[in-house]
Amino acid sequence: MRKIIISPSILAADIMALGRDVISSEKAGAQYLHIDIMDGHFVPNLSYGPDVVKALRPISNQVFDVHLMISDPLFYAESFAKAGADIITVHYEAIDNPIEVAKKLHSLGVKAGLSIKPKTPAEEIFEYLPYFDLILVMTVEPGFGGQSYIEEMNDKIAVLRAEIDKLDKEIDLEVDGGIGPKNVAMPISAGANVIVSGSAVFKAENPAQAIADMKAFNNNVL
Ligand code: DX5
Ligand code: ZN
Repeated sequence: MRKIIISPSILAADIMALGRDVISSEKAGAQYLHIDIMDGHFVPNLSYGPDVVKALRPISNQVFDVHLMISDPLFYAESFAKAGADIITVHYEAIDNPIEVAKKLHSLGVKAGLSIKPKTPAEEIFEYLPYFDLILVMTVEPGFGGQSYIEEMNDKIAVLRAEIDKLDKEIDLEVDGGIGPKNVAMPISAGANVIVSGSAVFKAENPAQAIADMKAFNNNVL
């Protein structure tokens, strides 16, 4: 049985009370904090820069899981590492040389993540798995919170889990988009162990309960 890690996405938090929401998510047991960075170019939306990561760093001991949805991730990686990122995830579709990117991220002292959009086949990244610490399967088109989970991604998660299990290395398999307590069974059963959840946590009546329900899923059901 795999330990489930919850990574609440601050995109859905109350921006006027961001610090409060982050602190509550840590108290509720969310081990990671998912920070979505968008450049208006790789995705048609804008979010934050490194200063937001820096501002949040002193108030949280969570693993800062920074998801770069930007066209030139290496140009900005160092700023995010210095600001306090623990994991920096780049998009496979935005880079030319995943191995070089992984090495560069490691040289900055952070864990390296590689993400694929829903239309990118899992097989395209098989050869790069050993170089990364985390693989992120997008379960919606990146760019916006509050979308519906694409169920066709279940197979992709399962295929990547099988491939990761062939390696002699712990690699997190993260899923992102449209996930909450009601449907977390799908990605977890398929093999994901890090669950990003935005709207289903921060827009819930009881965010702490939503986090607890997802964390406990393996223990209660599988
Ligand atoms: C989408 C982002 C997600 C988003 C998830 O581009 O990468 O992290 O915040 O939000 P929900 O859980 O609302 O789909
Ligand atoms: Zn994300």
